[in-house]
Amino acid sequence: MAQLAINGGKPVRTKDFPKWPIITQSDEKNLLAALRGGNWGLRGSMLDKFEKEFAKFTQAKYAITVTNGTAALEVALRGVGVKAGDEVIIPPYTFIATASAVLTVNAVPIFVDIDPQSYLIDPGQIEAAITPRTAAIIPVHIAGLPCDMDKIMRIARKHKLAVIEDACQAHGAEWKGRRVGAIGDAGCFSFQSSKNLTSGEGGACVSDDRKIFERMWSLKNCGRIPKGAFYEHHVLGWNMRMTEFQAAVLLSQMKRLPAQMKRRDENGAYLSQLLGEIEGIEPQKWTKGATRHAYHLYIFRYDKKAFGGVPRERFIRALTAEGIECSAGYVPLYQEPMFVVDPAVHVFAGKVDYTKVKCPVCEHACAEEAVWLYQRLLLGTKRDMEDIARAIRKIQDNVDELRS
Ligand SMILES: Cc1ncc(COP(=O)(O)O)c(C=O)c1O
Repeated sequence: MAQLAINGGKPVRTKDFPKWPIITQSDEKNLLAALRGGNWGLRGSMLDKFEKEFAKFTQAKYAITVTNGTAALEVALRGVGVKAGDEVIIPPYTFIATASAVLTVNAVPIFVDIDPQSYLIDPGQIEAAITPRTAAIIPVHIAGLPCDMDKIMRIARKHKLAVIEDACQAHGAEWKGRRVGAIGDAGCFSFQSSKNLTSGEGGACVSDDRKIFERMWSLKNCGRIPKGAFYEHHVLGWNMRMTEFQAAVLLSQMKRLPAQMKRRDENGAYLSQLLGEIEGIEPQKWTKGATRHAYHLYIFRYDKKAFGGVPRERFIRALTAEGIECSAGYVPLYQEPMFVVDPAVHVFAGKVDYTKVKCPVCEHACAEEAVWLYQRLLLGTKRDMEDIARAIRKIQDNVDELRS
């Protein structure tokens, strides 16, 4: 008789994990207050308050809200001075926005491979990618795990490059005890639906540099300047402003965030302990200076050799059938059809032939190895974490069922 749920056996779980987003009366109260307040955009007091609270949360001097994380990256890129034709170093293991923001400001993404154990940009390969046209590096704290910011900042200062942290998945993550975001020259966050802090859509840029902050403020405010007139436009900007409704929801959620972060910390550590004991499963390895993972995703590496040669895709289908939602995640960004077929990419990125880019570590991770669990799973109980480990062990113990 079949044991595995994919073959008709009894699944390890039939109960779902905590739902996301979580909605409380405090969200409803804040939203109603925003509605009745009548300042729905531009000068909303909740927007002001949220920007101050978010700066405090990220331990940054300044924060501005924007329409989404992609906009945050565009604003930050121009905010630190990236110009048309400049090259910007990024990892290929990230969401498309990291690359498309670079292209949208007419700059050229240059891909540097990731570390095989952390899946974060490999600082040891950055210098080889620097040319006289390089203007910036975007380390992406993928899954919520901080990149090696010491090494990256050292390289950037040596070559006079700007650093923009893509912290869109890393709310509250810490590098050597400091929150990510303003360790580099600017940092970007997303409040899109899946994120650990969400208003459906939304984003923020943070910085410790007053000049960069003021420039980013102008760029998202139609080129206005902080004390200028309403119809006075100094730079080519966008309207990338968030609404008061989004700030209302975010302010309410900020109150719950510390407790949720603590829960993910505890469950993440416990899950790593459990999964670390299973042959062929390696949790994403922390960079040496990382002191807090935001666990937007929980990524582990799957080695099919310990699972009778069963390909990762089949393992993922089997794990999903056991009641554990999971996925394979990204493809290497430069393999996205956009880089090959969209003429806009060629106009902006000039002579780079993205079909020739090779980042073998990223390609292996994407094709065979990476398995993603989502942050809402880590909001469950210790028992829930044990279920995840139990489901993986069950697949390993009955792997013959997947080979036939
Ligand atoms: C790493 C990364 N960068 C950028 C973004 C873009 O954020 P948004 O979807 O809010 O535009 C996201 C999120 O989707 C992301 O995960």
